[in-house]
Amino acid sequence: MARYLVKGGTPLHGVIRPLGNKNAVLPMIAATLLTDAPVTLKNVPDITDVRTMLGLLRGLGAQVSFRAREHAVYICCDGVRQHRLLDEKVTEVRASILFFGALLARFGRVEILSPGGCQIGLRQVDTHFMNLAKLGVSVSYGSPIRAEAHRLCGAAVWSDETSVTATANFLLAAVRATGESVLYNAACEPHIQDLCRLLGKMGAEIQGIGTNRLVVRGAGPLHGAEHDVAEDYVETGSFLAAAAATGGAVRVEHVNTESYNQIIHQFSKLGVEVRTKPGALLVRAGQEMRIRSTLDGRLAKIECLPWPGFPADLLQIALVLATQCTGKVLIHDKMFESRLFFVDKLIRMGAEVFLSDPHRAIVFGPKKLKGKFIESPDLRAGMALVIAALAAEGTSEIDNVQFIERGYENLVGRLQGLGADIERRTSP
Ligand code: EPU
Repeated sequence: MARYLVKGGTPLHGVIRPLGNKNAVLPMIAATLLTDAPVTLKNVPDITDVRTMLGLLRGLGAQVSFRAREHAVYICCDGVRQHRLLDEKVTEVRASILFFGALLARFGRVEILSPGGCQIGLRQVDTHFMNLAKLGVSVSYGSPIRAEAHRLCGAAVWSDETSVTATANFLLAAVRATGESVLYNAACEPHIQDLCRLLGKMGAEIQGIGTNRLVVRGAGPLHGAEHDVAEDYVETGSFLAAAAATGGAVRVEHVNTESYNQIIHQFSKLGVEVRTKPGALLVRAGQEMRIRSTLDGRLAKIECLPWPGFPADLLQIALVLATQCTGKVLIHDKMFESRLFFVDKLIRMGAEVFLSDPHRAIVFGPKKLKGKFIESPDLRAGMALVIAALAAEGTSEIDNVQFIERGYENLVGRLQGLGADIERRTSP
């Protein structure tokens, strides 16, 4: 077990580059099962979730070589003969459910344990199976989950939710179905767009990328490809928020600035200005950070929604940032049932947060935070608490950092590079 020791109060300064998007890499790892030819992924972060997914693929018989320092992974699935994925590690990550669509496409059948992941809500998988049933898949839900499709047949499918992983699973199966499949109410997050781009390089025909209507013309086996994974906008948003919360100035480089309009807009409601430069975003020091009420003077609100709404994975981070801004704001998690439960830890640090119900919290700022011993309950809350600790007076000890390391590579080293007083200690 490891902990972070954070001495707060130092404004962050410097330049940083985000790594590839975790939630793009994970379905891409599953997508390599759609071909016997090698696939090389670049800009892959060295994080636990990636290592777990690669380990599962290796267990299926794939050849996997992860050159972590170069952030490159080479995968060849020609040795995969196994449609059963019953390794307990499946239950450690949510993204393992993506092997469902990929194994089904490869073998016409699959047996897999239920996925795991952070405890942030109900996280059902119904949408995945309802959508795939329309392509001719029959699913028997149990432990393990078993499914088969004598033939995957293209169909028009109206998804009941704009689910990210359900969209990825649909794509992984539809690219091998006969005929045309249309997915309405598809997720269109940048990582789904990037998955579509990889599948396109592998020979798939997908139209409507970036919209909520995806049209897939199914084909035979795909071919090999090489792909540079696009940057993680959650990492970018985290570093910008950390800079603002500590009163520092940080420039995040190598970003596709077009993906950040919503994030910039929501941060501006908190009075945090994020400037756009070619290929870079920056927060400058000494901002007033005054929360803007609505035009008719009512409570400001930041809510998360499927893309192009404000990302759910940045909502806890926005909440922590709001504790350092002047005024009050409603933070509304419309998607997850229990992601806001981490606010008790912030309250212990001195924040004034009123949890109205599991989905809504009102933050009253600014409040001086004080360093405390805190436990990270999940990945994004963990990062939000690191930001709180960086902004706080005194020393904080953050436990359960294995959650944070599921999604952020070398967070300690990279924050040290921005001047943070943070170290990682392994507990005996
Ligand atoms: N939801 C709705 N209405 C919708 C769409 C979603 O209420 O129209 C709810 C769902 O019921 C669910 C939640 O929102 O409770 C998220 O739904 P989704 O199915 O999209 O989530 P997911 O596919 O299981 C992925 C990411 C999560 C990220 C969510 C939302 C992966 C492996 N996981 O999960 O990432 O929070 O999308 O963007 O891609 C993380 O990286 O920390 C993480 C949890």
